[in-house]
Amino acid sequence: MRRREAARVGRLGLAAVFMSAGLLFAACGGDDGETSSGGGGGGGESAAGDATAGQETFSASCASCHGQDAKGMPNLGKDLTTSEFVAGQSDADLVAFIKVGRDTSDPANTTGVAMPPKGGNPALTDEQLGDVVAYIRTIQE
Ligand code: HEC
Repeated sequence: MRRREAARVGRLGLAAVFMSAGLLFAACGGDDGETSSGGGGGGGESAAGDATAGQETFSASCASCHGQDAKGMPNLGKDLTTSEFVAGQSDADLVAFIKVGRDTSDPANTTGVAMPPKGGNPALTDEQLGDVVAYIRTIQE
């Protein structure tokens, strides 16, 4: 699982570094923590946001609307790789945004579709959201 997903970001050297750390965790800790994503992979990197863990969380909780490649889906989530909104927010601001989402009543909403709080997964922790933000940073164009 990890290897297939990792291949998608393999074009980025930085991601490759994160990836090898992820593979180490996979080697010692079982390879299928994808659905739980509850701190699997843990470890020292998470304080700064662990893009590898973030990719798994994104895949499980965000890709249904934003697409596995984060390029957006018609009538669902927006493209995050080219988003000026994302580019203009600090990491902390983005985590705060993801926690509340953007309802259709919000004047900033452009699609008429709601971005649900935490993508509709209330179990996501601040740390996991920080990891997701770290991942989104690696795929921005
Ligand atoms: C149920 C569908 C859905 C899910 C799941 C979802 N989103 Fe969204 N998201 C949206 C929609 C729709 C928008 C655009 C709302 C609008 O019109 O402004 C959006 C907007 C965003 C934006 C702002 C983009 C911009 O350019 O304004 C970010 C950042 C974002 N989502 C991140 C996430 C993350 C991270 C996750 C997973 C934790 C996630 N989303 C899960 C539907 C979703």
